[in-house]
Parts: sequence; structure tokens; C-alpha cells
Amino acid sequence: MGRYDSPAALAALVQPHQVHRDIYTDQEVFQQEMKHLFANAWVFVGHESQTPNKGDYFSTHIGTQPVIQVRHSTGDIHVLLNRCPHKGTKIVIDRQGNTGKFFRCPYHAWSFKTDGCLLAIPLKKGYQNTGLEETDSGKGMRSVGDVKNYRGFIFARLADEGMSFEEFFGKSLSSLDNMVDRSPAGRLEVVGPPLRYMHHCNWKMLVENQTDTCHPMVAHESSAGTAVKLYEELGLPEDAPKPPAMEIIAPFMSPYEFFEGMGIRTWPNGHGHTGVNHSIHSDYAAIPGYFEALCESYGEEKAKAILDENRHNTVYFPNIMIKGPIQQLRVFIPIAADRTVVESYIYRLVDAPDELTARTAMYNRMINAPTSIVGHDDLEMYERAQEGLMVDGLEWVNIQRLIEEDEDFEVEAVENGTTERQMRNQFHAWVKFMTMCQKTEAAE
Ligand code: FES
Ligand SMILES: [Fe+2]
Repeated sequence: MGRYDSPAALAALVQPHQVHRDIYTDQEVFQQEMKHLFANAWVFVGHESQTPNKGDYFSTHIGTQPVIQVRHSTGDIHVLLNRCPHKGTKIVIDRQGNTGKFFRCPYHAWSFKTDGCLLAIPLKKGYQNTGLEETDSGKGMRSVGDVKNYRGFIFARLADEGMSFEEFFGKSLSSLDNMVDRSPAGRLEVVGPPLRYMHHCNWKMLVENQTDTCHPMVAHESSAGTAVKLYEELGLPEDAPKPPAMEIIAPFMSPYEFFEGMGIRTWPNGHGHTGVNHSIHSDYAAIPGYFEALCESYGEEKAKAILDENRHNTVYFPNIMIKGPIQQLRVFIPIAADRTVVESYIYRLVDAPDELTARTAMYNRMINAPTSIVGHDDLEMYERAQEGLMVDGLEWVNIQRLIEEDEDFEVEAVENGTTERQMRNQFHAWVKFMTMCQKTEAAE
């Protein structure tokens, strides 16, 4: 028996105003997260434009489980476990490619259709009358429990049964809708491979930081603050057009009042976003021709409504964040209790001017690249926290800023933009999904 193999032991790690450090540091808790949370939740896999043609595949992970997103011969997208049902060999090792009409295992050449069904086995007579068809191995590559393509974004649930996609995301899908609606064609396309680098910290630190509005003006002072200072020293006239790089970086230095006023909205199941009223993306200069293109597609009123949404970071529990106004998605892929790979994708708004893609790419380079000046401020904080949590004597992490009595996370709420309610919301969902199927198992 491990310390954390009971639902009660896991649930005890979360209190209304604080969480136990083992949530971030303990490898057994991490393994339980992979087994329960990442199996029961709907987890982001990829975008359909990463596999545009039949036979195109893309390999990634759901939690620590290697999976393949593949475009099947019927045109729909499947998500398969990246493991040969014969002896376990990983079927693909490339990040992406085209497999043609079938996958072929490199070890003994069993082959599988792109929906995973077993297609052929060399020297098949060796299995005659052995009952192979009745075994799991005889059924081919295993699919995940369920897959949903929502406006081009592919999500999957590993568990065969559980919460539906619609119930899991509910009204939070409005953020994804807004990002896609920003394309005059209502369609996004991934641009290039993601920026990608390792963080020596727990994956949840990154997720929490997406709605932590009390850190930018502090942790980013050395980067954004320096940029603002140098720009001011140029002494340019007030009305001089700001270079796009300054438009991007300067709002990181906004005062507390700005972040308080921006607002935070939380939805059930751990989802939430900053920037209800305004955000660091609100004051970007208009790109010539873009509004006109949107008006043509949607009419002026709807075009205005689409652009008036300036949501900052939307967290989709458990492990992605999207930025609608800048068409970006970051996925925090857990590797171990103290290791997380972060991938930052950008998307092109189909039928919108290219300048928008250029700004999006600039944002990603400046803020999220391995060579970025801003992302490393955060990385430094995460890694210091991961180390600091090993200090004995204090075992709890505080999340009680603007806490209220009897908070109900099963209803949508809008609060002051510096609340830590979204972090509490995530941990409420964490307990729910960590203990979900264990309760079922116990009842059986
Ligand atoms: S391990 Fe894949 S065919 Fe044998
Ligand atoms: Fe930050």
C-alpha cells in the first residue's frame, strides 16, 4: 500500500485555502494523477491542421501516455495508443509524418489500419486456432476511450466511460469559439512546430500561473520593466506609433489596479479565464483590412462583438491555456513530479491578413520561446518554488487570496481579477477527477 492509493488520502491534500506540498513534489501523487486525473478528464491532443491529409499522423502524450493523432481513410481523426498490441513496440517515433494507408510495426511487421484495426500479420497461419482474435492483442492498436474534434481542436478521454465532452467543458467553450471566430473563415491552421522546452517543476505550477495576476509587475520587472524604461528614455512623442514588440511587452508592467479591474471568470470542472473586462491584449493596434474582412463574414455587429472579447488566458483544466486574441495555445505536458515539457503553438486565422500571424509569432518568440526574455522570469520562479517546497517545517501552499466562505465551484462566477479563486477551482476539480473512478471502483 502506498501513502496515496486511497481517495481519502488524495482528497486530504486539498483544503479550501491551502494545498499540501506533496501535490507538487511527490512522485506517487504524480503517478496517481496520471492514472486517475489524466484518464478521466478530456485532455488536449492536437489541432486537426497538424494532420490535414489521410494517413497524416502526429505523436504526443496524454499525461505520460504516448498517443498518435491520425487522419483515417474516411477523413475523420482517430487517437490511438502508440504501442504495438503484439509486444509493445512504439509504432511511431517521429513527431509527425504520413503513414499511408496503414501503420506497420517495425519489429515483426504486424500492420494496422489508421483506425487501429488489425490489418495483417506475416505468417498468420501460426495463429490459426490459437484464439488470437479473442485477445486484446488480436484486436489491433487500441484507441483512447473517446475523441472529440471541437472546431478543429482534438481532445480525448483515455477512460472508456466517463463525463461527456459537453459536460466537461460547458460554457468554457466560449473562449475556444472566440479564438476560432476571429478567423473570417471560422477556421484556424497551426503555424509551424511549437516552441518547446523543459521546466524543472511540477506541471500544475504552470497552470496556476496562467491566472496569477499578482506576479507580472514583480517577476517580469527585470525584462518588461527594463524594456519600458529603455523605451521611455528614447523620449518619443506620446502619439508616436508604438513598435509591435513594445505593444506586447509593456502591458506586463501594468499596475495592480489594472489586473484587479480585468476580472477573472471561473467555470465548473477547473476551467477559467482572466480578462473579463480588458486584458494585456486590449490595446494592440488594428491591422489594416482585418475588421473589414470580419465584417464581410459576420456583419459589423458580430464582428465588433468578436473583437471586443479580450480574454487574456483561458485555462482548460487540466493542462492547456489558450489566448484567443493572439491565437495561441500552450500545453503543459507532465513528465514527472518535477519535470514538465511546455509546448507553445500559434495559429493562423484563415482569410485574415498575414500581419496578424506575424504578431502572434512575435508574441510567442518574445514571451514563450526557450530564448524568450519573459518566460524565463516565470521559469525561475517555478524552479525556485519546486526547490523551496523541499524545506521541512512548512508543508502547505497558500491559495486564499480573496477567498469567500462556502465557495461553490459548480457554478460560474466572475470575481476581482486578483483573486486566486481559479486556483482553488482547479484544485476542486483535481480532487473530483482524482477520486472519481476510485469511488466507482470501491462501490463495485
Ligand atoms: S512488436 Fe509489433 S509486430 Fe511484434
Ligand atoms: Fe509570468
